[in-house]
Amino acid sequence: MKSGEINYELEKNMEVISQLDSLVSDAVENMLVDPEECWQPSDFLPDLSNPEALEDIKLLKQRAEGIPDTVLTSLIGNMITEEALPSYQTYFNLLEGINEDRSLVSPSGWVRWSKSWTAEENRHGDLLNKYLYLTGRVDMGAVERTIHRLIANGFDANTDADPYQAMIYTSFQERATKISHVNTGKLADKAGDHVLSRICKTIAGDEARHEKAYKTFMGRIFEIDPSGAMVAFEKMMRKQIVMPAVLMGEGGNRPNLYKDFSEITQKVGIYTGWDYARIIEHLVEFWKIEAVTGLNDLAAKAQDYLSNLADRYMRLADRIKAPDEVKLAWLK
Ligand SMILES: [Fe+2]
Ligand SMILES: [Fe+2]
Repeated sequence: MKSGEINYELEKNMEVISQLDSLVSDAVENMLVDPEECWQPSDFLPDLSNPEALEDIKLLKQRAEGIPDTVLTSLIGNMITEEALPSYQTYFNLLEGINEDRSLVSPSGWVRWSKSWTAEENRHGDLLNKYLYLTGRVDMGAVERTIHRLIANGFDANTDADPYQAMIYTSFQERATKISHVNTGKLADKAGDHVLSRICKTIAGDEARHEKAYKTFMGRIFEIDPSGAMVAFEKMMRKQIVMPAVLMGEGGNRPNLYKDFSEITQKVGIYTGWDYARIIEHLVEFWKIEAVTGLNDLAAKAQDYLSNLADRYMRLADRIKAPDEVKLAWLK
């Protein structure tokens, strides 16, 4: 699109997004948790003012000893993903129609959502980072350099600043992170670290609330503008969902770092090709894609494409083979 040209589709999407403002405002009140009532990282960590603190740290280290290196590397990668939060809030505020006032203190539901959602997310990286530090098994300098690089590199969700595609992206992504944290929690449990398991499940609980909220927002868009929503869903899935930490190695001495990390999550079953296919399947069912009527031609084609998509990815996932040898990262 040439500059100066009006993008009517985007203008319409922005208009619909502004109609969701009160729904989003309600979600800030009802689906997010007030800081006074919310869990905080310190709930799960040794209290260093306690005279027994060194004993608590010793126990924490003992519990963490049994976690396999591959699981630990996956968890660190997930933590690094959470720590690149500045990029996600920036991304959200760059979407068209989300922050019309260009102000962080705007009373708009969308602006309040963007801040309160980020504030909840902030606890995830915070807790995992401190926990991993205390295990003594992590090369913190290497982790910090990766986080530094990832934030400096930014990320591109390929949503073209279109709020419709962004709601698809965030619905998908919150579910994906929920799945990763749930699976990590199970593996931590198996390895004998029940505290880490509880940490992962608690974080997953947050992601589940976020997922529900984003799916609700997108569900409303499907009601108001079914054809537009359908086309946006197709567009997003054709481009595929890029993971937020994909640029973690770019420009560094280990440019394939993200690929290595995702091979490990595939291998240990924390996040796999089947998960990707099942998320598509879930979203197609949740928004009742196959039952939407009154679509224009373009949207009807999108509906066809989306109806068969999960099966295609499922077959693809059956053929993905995790490599025998994986490259660990960030460990002592
Ligand atoms: Fe998170
Ligand atoms: Fe989340």
